Amino acid sequence: MLKAIEGFGVSKVVHSDNPNFKPGDLISGFTGWEEYSLIKKTELLRKIQQDDDIPLSYHLGLLGDRVFVSAASGAVGQLVGQLAKLHGCYVVGTAGSNQKVDLLKTKLGFDEAFNYKEELDLDAALKRYFPEGIDIYFDNVGGEILDAALLNMRIHGRIGVCGMVSQQSLSKPKGIHNLFSLISKRIKMEGFLQSDYLHLYPRFLEDVIGYYKQGKIVYVEDMNEGLDSAPAAFVGLFSGKNVGKQVIRVATE
Ligand SMILES: NC(=O)c1ccc[n+]([C@@H]2O[C@H](COP(=O)([O-])OP(=O)(O)OC[C@H]3O[C@@H](n4cnc5c(N)ncnc54)[C@H](OP(=O)(O)O)[C@@H]3O)[C@@H](O)[C@H]2O)c1
Repeated sequence: MLKAIEGFGVSKVVHSDNPNFKPGDLISGFTGWEEYSLIKKTELLRKIQQDDDIPLSYHLGLLGDRVFVSAASGAVGQLVGQLAKLHGCYVVGTAGSNQKVDLLKTKLGFDEAFNYKEELDLDAALKRYFPEGIDIYFDNVGGEILDAALLNMRIHGRIGVCGMVSQQSLSKPKGIHNLFSLISKRIKMEGFLQSDYLHLYPRFLEDVIGYYKQGKIVYVEDMNEGLDSAPAAFVGLFSGKNVGKQVIRVATE
């Protein structure tokens, strides 16, 4: 039997047995080179929220990934989230206080944010913000948040492992329970050190300084005065005392 060539497309649902999709919904994902397709692997489809200012075809290239960032208001996370937004992603961050959550949603432009300390069930929280799953998880914390993220990754999702701050002050790091998701969902999970990428630093500077000057990104610093404040500020990183990048002003110029 002849079979249509498969390709990545945008389509409108005509009929669906999957309760997540109803007639009229717009979706992107693998469809056929044909006018009507019968799609059986509906778990790979993504629902599109139509916006009259955005051409539908942009959902095939420019827009799309659903990104989750932990320790999202910190030095690293705030930049990760903003860069992901500049690349057209849907971005959700988590942080440990309502003040930080507010910062993420108002000043830093995250689509959504939640306070992980107020969630009794992190898996349920992620399902609330990512009903169709996470494409990219930028992990700054490890531990329970990583475990819950594993359960909510999409097939072929990617996890960039930047840090494990939740485990750093423990004498015995806790185990991760949901690693089977790596197999069942064919997830790529990779740790990295920024020092391996110093050759990209000039490009990073050019891009980020450009975005900053154009007002496309902002940066939040938590400035403490004097070297004496450094030990407490350092310890404070492990309980979330800092709001933004922790900096110590040792002397004024
Ligand atoms: N791979 C690399 O090359 C590289 C380079 C730099 C940094 N890092 C790592 O990246 C991560 C973020 O660094 P950063 O400089 O941006 O730090 P940061 O976010 O400015 O400070 C650490 C934050 O981690 C959160 N945190 C502390 N304990 C936690 C826990 N048990 N569970 C969840 N969150 C917790 C706190 O925020 P909340 O209030 O939100 O809990 C705290 O403010 C760290 O793990 C760091 O080691 C890696």
